[in-house]
Amino acid sequence: MNITIIAAVGKNNELGKNNDLIWRFKEDMKFFKESTTGKPIVMGLNTFYSLPKLLPNRKHIVLSNVPVSLPEEVTVVNSMEKLLRLIHSLDQEVMIIGGASIYHQFMPFANKLLLTEIDASSEADVYFPAFEKSEWEKKILSVQEENGITFEHVEYMKK
Ligand SMILES: NC(=O)c1ccc[n+]([C@@H]2O[C@H](COP(=O)([O-])OP(=O)(O)OC[C@H]3O[C@@H](n4cnc5c(N)ncnc54)[C@H](OP(=O)(O)O)[C@@H]3O)[C@@H](O)[C@H]2O)c1
Repeated sequence: MNITIIAAVGKNNELGKNNDLIWRFKEDMKFFKESTTGKPIVMGLNTFYSLPKLLPNRKHIVLSNVPVSLPEEVTVVNSMEKLLRLIHSLDQEVMIIGGASIYHQFMPFANKLLLTEIDASSEADVYFPAFEKSEWEKKILSVQEENGITFEHVEYMKK
């Protein structure tokens, strides 16, 4: 399976607060769009509800236990087991776009992390899982600054 986790994290692994993002940077939104367009995106129900709209040119796969009524183009899956089977059958890179509960469950299956590492900290109620850096090959893709805050786009490939 070709599973990539994509996330923006603060200095203390902050991910979000009140079911919303903490930071929004134009260049990071662009990076997210470029990295995910044309690929299936997997998310938890909370993250799906936090999206302003369906994201164009991406197959949406939502993990949820409850029978929810979502737009017909969204695939809803109710267990990790079924989701992993689906990902296997897709035979292409699948992007895990959050939130916290989904990142935690997918960390053992991911072979690539695309992280926006933000040089700032903030109050948060969800955090990215800690991971063993020595198990990953790190490559800094770019260093950016917006609104006085520095952030790096970093790729980690599983060794
Ligand atoms: N910084 C970033 O890059 C980034 C990216 C994405 C999201 N976020 C933030 O993360 C937060 C949301 O994260 P979250 O952890 O609260 O929610 P989430 O992971 O988006 O969704 C959680 C929901 O997904 C469903 N789910 C999870 N695991 C499941 C499983 N194994 N089987 C079936 N359903 C499952 C459950 O829905 P049911 O209740 O229906 O069972 C669960 O309540 C928000 O603040 C958001 O802004 C940040």
